[in-house]
Amino acid sequence: MSVKLAGKTALVTGGARGIGRAYALHLAGLGADVAVLDADLRSYRDFAGEQAEMTADSTMAEIEQLGRRSIGLEVDVTNSTAMDAAIAEITDQWGHLDIAICNAGGGSGTPAESKASEVSPELFDTVIQRNLYGTVNTCRAVAPGMKASGYGRIVTVASQAGRHGAPGGGYAHYGTAKAGIMMYTRYLAQELGPFGITVNCVAPGFIATGRLMPMFESQGVDRILDLIPLRRLGTPEDCARVVEFLVSELGDYVTGALIPIDGGSVS
Ligand SMILES: NC(=O)c1ccc[n+]([C@@H]2O[C@H](COP(=O)([O-])OP(=O)(O)OC[C@H]3O[C@@H](n4cnc5c(N)ncnc54)[C@H](O)[C@@H]3O)[C@@H](O)[C@H]2O)c1
Repeated sequence: MSVKLAGKTALVTGGARGIGRAYALHLAGLGADVAVLDADLRSYRDFAGEQAEMTADSTMAEIEQLGRRSIGLEVDVTNSTAMDAAIAEITDQWGHLDIAICNAGGGSGTPAESKASEVSPELFDTVIQRNLYGTVNTCRAVAPGMKASGYGRIVTVASQAGRHGAPGGGYAHYGTAKAGIMMYTRYLAQELGPFGITVNCVAPGFIATGRLMPMFESQGVDRILDLIPLRRLGTPEDCARVVEFLVSELGDYVTGALIPIDGGSVS
């Protein structure tokens, strides 16, 4: 087993399924102990494709199968008080938290009901809270401990939707939230750099998860591939390898960066 992250502890929000689960398992495979925080620690049950990927009853159990320690916390990232308590619980148990992957997020509603000029205040707020406030709450909770130890690696998660407006203006709430995460990352990197903490953002494109693959198939995978110069959908592991770079010694001199993981897609 690789021990690139031996002795390190990590947190992955939204780690119960999908790309977050891949981050958690990849970091565990590199030797880290990994805490999984999710509003629903068995959220993989919502999608047959996600359920089919599982090798145990939870991401935490899969991490333990890899020989690492894990903590599972059922918490909503939009609740800043609960986030502070969750991070305190991890540091109480493990003594330190070195790595935080702020992955929990996602959209709500349809493109038609989330157009830039028509989205309801309630829907807009839900998605801004889940993505942008959820990220801010996570970073606010982990920063004091990392500052005290003089070391930290934070990765935030945006999307290609935060870099380019979608044709027709649908999903404006999600794109706006993800663009906010990119800029928040740059400010946080400026603030935390002097404490030995790097803060970087990844922006995935079309990533074939068990949740999204049926939607890609219904839209026509070939049509999507025409938008991607590398002519394939991304995988959760493609994303996890970029995170590996950012949280291991390979990325020690990289902070405030935005790294698209999208096969060169510009739409
Ligand atoms: N899949 C893609 O193609 C893609 C592309 C670009 C960006 N992203 C981003 O990557 C991240 C992961 O994407 P995914 O496709 O794996 O998502 P997903 O919806 O499959 O999984 C998200 C996980 O986060 C959890 N979660 C949602 N809201 C939460 C909250 N308020 N508090 C705590 N946990 C919460 C869910 O329960 C779920 O387990 C998201 O931030 C998403 O916006 C995904």
